[in-house]
Formats: sequence, structure tokens, C-alpha cells
Amino acid sequence: MRKILVTSALPYANGSIHIGHLVEYIQTDIWVRFQKLRGHECYYVCADDAHGTPIMLRAQKEGITPEELIARYQTEHQTDFADFSIGFDNYYSTHSAENQHFSNLIYQGLKAGGHIERQTIRQFYDPEKEMFLPDRFIRGECPKCHALDQYGDSCEHCHTTYNPTDLINPVSAVSGVTPIEKESEHLFVNLSHFEAMLQEWIGSGALQPAVQHKLNEWFESGLQAWNISRDAPYFGFEMPDEPNKYFYVWLDAPIGYIASFKNLCDREHIDFESFLAKDSEAELYHFIGKDIQYFHCLFWPAMLTAGGFRNPTAVFVHGFLKVDGEKMSKSRGTFINARTYLNHLQPEYLRYYFAAKLGHGVDDVDLNLDDFLHRVNADLVGKFVNIASRCAKFITNRFDGQLASELVEPALYQEFIDAGNAIAEAYETRDYNKGVRHIMALADRANQYIEERKPWTIAKQAGQEAELQGVCSQGLNLFRILMGYLAPILPLLTSKVEDFLAAPITWQPEPLLAHTIKPFKPLMVRVEKKQIDAMIEASKESLATPTQPAASIDPIRELIDYDTFSKIDLRIARILKAEQVEGADKLLRLSLDVGEDKPRNVFAGIKDAYAPEQLTGRLTVMVANLAPRQMRFGISEGMVLAAGPGKQDIFILTPDDGAQPGMRVK
Ligand code: MSP
Ligand code: ZN
Repeated sequence: MRKILVTSALPYANGSIHIGHLVEYIQTDIWVRFQKLRGHECYYVCADDAHGTPIMLRAQKEGITPEELIARYQTEHQTDFADFSIGFDNYYSTHSAENQHFSNLIYQGLKAGGHIERQTIRQFYDPEKEMFLPDRFIRGECPKCHALDQYGDSCEHCHTTYNPTDLINPVSAVSGVTPIEKESEHLFVNLSHFEAMLQEWIGSGALQPAVQHKLNEWFESGLQAWNISRDAPYFGFEMPDEPNKYFYVWLDAPIGYIASFKNLCDREHIDFESFLAKDSEAELYHFIGKDIQYFHCLFWPAMLTAGGFRNPTAVFVHGFLKVDGEKMSKSRGTFINARTYLNHLQPEYLRYYFAAKLGHGVDDVDLNLDDFLHRVNADLVGKFVNIASRCAKFITNRFDGQLASELVEPALYQEFIDAGNAIAEAYETRDYNKGVRHIMALADRANQYIEERKPWTIAKQAGQEAELQGVCSQGLNLFRILMGYLAPILPLLTSKVEDFLAAPITWQPEPLLAHTIKPFKPLMVRVEKKQIDAMIEASKESLATPTQPAASIDPIRELIDYDTFSKIDLRIARILKAEQVEGADKLLRLSLDVGEDKPRNVFAGIKDAYAPEQLTGRLTVMVANLAPRQMRFGISEGMVLAAGPGKQDIFILTPDDGAQPGMRVK
């Protein structure tokens, strides 16, 4: 029996779980269920990642304490995960006593080992809020391509990365004032001390080739010292003996894995040391997305080593979710929250679909909505559940639920059992897509068997009772083997089948003979297109997405508060000129008079609905204080209001006569 400790990355405690996150939690949960099904001692722990500036500011905005905010998200996350059958053995919080203990311990280890150094650095400081600003809370003009309103660390337009102090006209996203530069002393981990250890660890086969490649790039460019301190005010743990300094959230976040496991060990009397001590023979795996490799493959092993812990056996990195080939998008309705999904569709459809798509690599995963509908209906309802429904009714109606006392095709049964090893290998290596293909090929084989033996024909012939019972019992036994293979993916269906067969579902089971089953009830219904459409509709955002990180949005209903609304400056504008934009499919370029000395240049996606000459001279309503955006064709300095479903049916708002350019709209 193997001893295995598994984690998924800890979701931030200031946002809802969405289907992108679920790629990871479903991937991990399947792996853990597989290990448990095979009889290994396996624990799956996770927690909310509760610290950091965004959480602190968000709580302030809502007028609550950070503790209240993180408690609310923790409840929401745990409910969402439970409804997707993510079977954590423990779900904890990084804001916990255990985590503070281990954070201090690892920090002391880093210090005692001589790996901490002090450096004074200059950073942006918000003089009004009296706080240092993280890069993401500073916006300004890109120093390279001059796109406006870019984050302090990188430009979304030209993808250059830079320091916030390189931004032109920087503004604090917290208060709107111009930040000043201020010095402060910080504590850094000297990562280069760990280079030999890291090289050795990487050489041990702990990483996928693509991840290894990325790491080598980082090695080549030299390991930078890592700043692990933050100045007050900060929501986190205070650093021992460093007044007004806090641990940076990314220091205590991965330590949250250890803290969550410790909390579980204390509750269930599990031997903590045997999993995490330096000489542990247990296995330790972290499932993460490709955006957080650096933290897990460089910082984390260094921290574990300094704290006297063992290194991970492997870090399993997955790609990002796309929907219909594109990044998830609020305007397209493909940024789908876990709860929105659950309001319209069964969780196991998504578990199955992700399993059918996931391999061991770091490639992005595409949720193609048509393929999703087709795949789930064809495979699960059409192929798999169909095996049981075709056989069970005869067993119930003609044999009082009793299965035959012998298998009529033991060789076929054995063939299905033997396939288990290859399927197990696919699960083990996270090639779920391979495993699913294999299982569905077996489902085809079972259906083919039933079609050849035609129980519905045998049933009409007198004196063929034994054969009818034999064929249907064979079919149900094959079905039971396949349910065992699918059990890690479909835990809810598995329990339904256990109930229907009145027998446990196990990996590579002995046949069920002379056993009484319960009457068959439909195990799974088909996905309907209208459910998917309704989910997309419910995920669409009617207004433009706010770009401020700390906007006042009700996280549950996504309502904006009155203050946020009142910030929108709506103005009457006269369309001085409207023209085609070369190379753009949807855009017209509008020149708008809003009573200022210079007309505004605005791009509007209304080309299908209006010819330029229809617009010239007309009045419309514009959002006058939208931050200018750099678009592919130039800078857009506002937005015009329009209504309608899209394409030709867009109607830009044209106020009644009497309005004048520059008038406020209330
Ligand atoms: N809090 C950090 C992780 C700390 S772990 C010590 C974090 N949180 S997160 O909520 O942003 O992401 C949690 C996990 O979900 C990460 O592994 C991330 O890669 C993954 N995903 C988030 N969005 C995703 C997609 N759209 N697609 C696939 N995985 C995604 O990072
Ligand atoms: Zn740029």
C-alpha cells in the first residue's frame, strides 16, 4: 500500500470558483479517488488562500473585516466543491494557527541557514491611503507601446513586463492619486543558495518536460532573490522580530498545504511526520496550473528544504481552460461560475467531459460546448447507461431481480477485467483521455455483445429463460466492471449504481452471481442544448467589466453599489463623423462632440448595424469617463451606449431633440 499526500492549489478567498478552477480540482479529485479505489492510503488536502492586499482592500470596500470576507468565501467555496463531489479530506484556511506556526518555522529555518538578506528598495506608495502599492494596484501608460491604463507589472497590449516605476503617469488604483516613491527595507530569500538542490530535484523526474524546460530558462537567466516581506497595513501574519512587517501571501500560501494536512492529522490521528519528514517514504504531489509554476517549482522546494521537510515527489502542471477555443469571457457568457453551471447542468457531465479531454501535459483544455453536449449524451447516456437499461428490465420482470448463477461468457468477462491494468496506467499517468477512450471502447464491446445475443428476441421465445437470464446477467456484470473503471470520474453515478445493483462498485470485481438487484431507474438524463444556452445567458455580463481591481461588486449577484454607478459619467454626444476602420470586422470609428474643446475618438462595434452616413450628425449617449483604452486600431476615449442582441440588431441610443452635446445624462 502506497502512502500518498495530494494537494490542489489554494483558491483565493476573494473570488468565486469558476469552471477554469474546476479543471484542476476535478483533475486532482479523479486522481485521488483512483488511488483510494485501488486501496492506497491517500489524503487530499486544500484550503482557501486568505491573505494579501486584494483581500484586505476588498474587505475595506465592503465595510467588513477581512476575517468576515474570507469566512464568507470559504463557505461558498466549500459548498461549490462539495456539489462537484470534490472529495477533500480536509479543506482549511491559510489564516490558521497551524499555518502561522509552520510559516514561522520555515522562516526561522531560512534565517538560521543564512538564506535571508536585507535590501532597501524603492516602491510606489499611496500617500492618501498610506500604503505601499502592489504592482497590480498601479495603472498607467505602458513605457514601450504607450497603451493607456496598464497594470504596474506588464502591458496587456504589447505584453512587455516592467517595473511599476517605469509606467508613464502612474495612478494608484486604490485612491486615484499619483503615487510617490518611497524607500523601505525588505527581507529576501537568497534563492541562488538552493540552486544545487533544485537542479538535483528537477533531475529526479519530478517535473513534466515542458515544466523542466521553463525552469531551465529561469536558471539560465539567474535566480533572483525573493522578497518575502510586506509593509503594514497588510492582511497576513506578522513576521517574528520584524515590527510592521508581514509575510508576503505567497510565502504562507503553499505552507497552507502543510497546515491543512497537520490539522487533518491531529483530528484523525494520522502520522504527520511519516508523510512530510525529510526521510519520509510517502509520496507528495501538488496539482497546479501553469501560471504558478515558479512558486511551486523554485520557491516551494527551497522553503521545504529550509524547514527540514521532504521535497515533493512531483508537481503536476495543467493548462488553462478555454471555452469554444477562446479565453473565458464575461461578455460572451463563457466565464462560467461553478454555481451558475450547477444551476443549469449536472456536475458529472463536466467531470466526464474534462476527464475525456485531460492528458498529462500542460496544454490548454478546450470546453467545446457542442462537443460537450454530444460527447456526454453519446458516451454516458447512449453507450454506458444503455448497457444496464437494456438488460435490467428483463432481470426485474422475468426473474424477480435475480441474476444467473453462472457467467455465460466468462472469457468476455475476463477480457474486461484484464483491460483494467491499462486503464489504471492511464489514470496513474493522468492520461484520463486515454483511459476514457479505452473504457468507451469496452462499452461499445458490451453493447455489441447485447446486440448479437438480442435479449429482446430471446424473451419472445418459449423455453429460453436460462439464456435470457444468462445474457442479461452477463451484460450487467460487464456494466459493473465499467462502472468501477469510471468510478473516479463519476462518484454520484457510482452510488446510484451501487444502490441499483445492491452491490459495491470496486476495481476489477468478482462477478455478481445468483444475486438480487433492484428495479432499474434511469441513471442519467441527456444534456439539452437549452440548458447550455441558459447557462451562457446567465453568465453574460450586461455592463462592461470593471477594470479596477477593487471595484464594489456584490460577489454573489454581481450587483454594483450606488457609488459605483454614480461614478459613470453619461453625456450627450454629437456624432461629428463616423467612418469605416480598415481591417476591423465590427468597428466604426466615431468622432464625438461632448462639448469639450476637442472631439473624442471612440471605436464602437456597430458596423453591422449602421452605415457611417446614417450616423453623422446624430446625438447619442456616451460614457465620458471610461479610461482610454488602447485598441488595435488606436485609442478609444469612451464608449457609446447601445442596446440589442448584436450584429444588425444593435441600436445606439439617440436622445430626443433638445439635448445638447456635453449635457449630463442622469
Ligand atoms: N492562491 C493561488 C494559489 C496558491 S497555492 C499555494 C492561486 N489561486 S487561484 O484561485 O487564482 O487559482 C487556483 C488554481 O486554479 C491555480 O492552480 C490556477 O492555475 C487554477 N486556475 C485558475 N484559473 C484557471 C483556468 N482558467 N483554467 C485552468 N486552471 C485555472 O493561484
Ligand atoms: Zn505596451
